[in-house]
Amino acid sequence: MSERMSGTLVSQKIQTEIAAELQIWIQKKWMMPKLSVILVGEDPASQVYVGHKEKMCQALGFSSEVIRLNAEVSESEIISEIQKLNLDTHVDGILIQLPLPSHINERLVLETVSADKDADCLTEKNLGRLLTGTAKVLPCTPSGVIEIFKFYKINLLGKNIAVIGRSLIVGLPLFQLLTKENATVTLFHSKSENLKQQIKNFDIVCVAIGKPEFFKATDFKVDAVVIDVGIHRIENKLTGDVNFTEFKNLKAYTPVPGGVGPTTIAILMKNTLALAKERRQK
Ligand SMILES: NC(=O)c1ccc[n+]([C@@H]2O[C@H](COP(=O)([O-])OP(=O)(O)OC[C@H]3O[C@@H](n4cnc5c(N)ncnc54)[C@H](OP(=O)(O)O)[C@@H]3O)[C@@H](O)[C@H]2O)c1
Repeated sequence: MSERMSGTLVSQKIQTEIAAELQIWIQKKWMMPKLSVILVGEDPASQVYVGHKEKMCQALGFSSEVIRLNAEVSESEIISEIQKLNLDTHVDGILIQLPLPSHINERLVLETVSADKDADCLTEKNLGRLLTGTAKVLPCTPSGVIEIFKFYKINLLGKNIAVIGRSLIVGLPLFQLLTKENATVTLFHSKSENLKQQIKNFDIVCVAIGKPEFFKATDFKVDAVVIDVGIHRIENKLTGDVNFTEFKNLKAYTPVPGGVGPTTIAILMKNTLALAKERRQK
């Protein structure tokens, strides 16, 4: 039997844990966590993702705000907005919705976020902490993937796992987190030779390449577990990097929508809570 691994269920579990912790916050009369999101331009997908983040904040009782800047905004204007958020004592977590328009230096902008408010672990300081195992919060999407494995009791210890994609927000940190779980991880990218032939050897594959339905379910080993991080809107329908029509040869897979996406947002909430807690305890 092939298992459809629901990220929505994983997200609900994380939200229940957050709600339970917030009960203690209420007793302590602590101010609820606040997440600030910077959204630049009118990219429809980004608008939808930010909408989901706002809704989850609302559902949990977090404060949230979205700072909307037009697509022509200058780098220095974005940086000045971030600096204001860094200084604002009510703001616990900051998220810069990516991608930014091409005239903006993404690294420079991300680096402006205070490491103590960096809700997606994207500053150099926090990426370094991720390597040394001292990060206060983990990158949302890769951490969400680990939560899916745990929820569905997929054993990672000693397993040969393929991660396809080496971006700083998904592939590289996922490589790191899986290594920390004692898996043996192979990282593939666009220059990898004979990719489709090679992935037939892996029991667990995480795909994050940003190419709609680049793989078919039958490209993987029989009984493989496949995580699809990709999200694409094609003719008003959401799809991933994998076409799972012939999913029956797989042991388990994450659908799009309803897979990695909802888990990512729940981890963003968990991170905001953790950063806020640290500030409340100071
Ligand atoms: N579910 C979520 O919450 C969530 C969160 C973030 C991203 N996403 C989605 O995940 C996907 C990946 O995002 P990203 O930000 O990591 O993308 P990205 O920055 O574009 O990186 C894509 C990576 O895939 C590699 N790649 C591209 N084509 C390939 C191919 N044909 N074979 C092997 N590797 C290939 C690239 O290799 P090179 O390094 O060699 O160029 C690169 O490392 C996108 O669809 C994005 O929308 C979803």
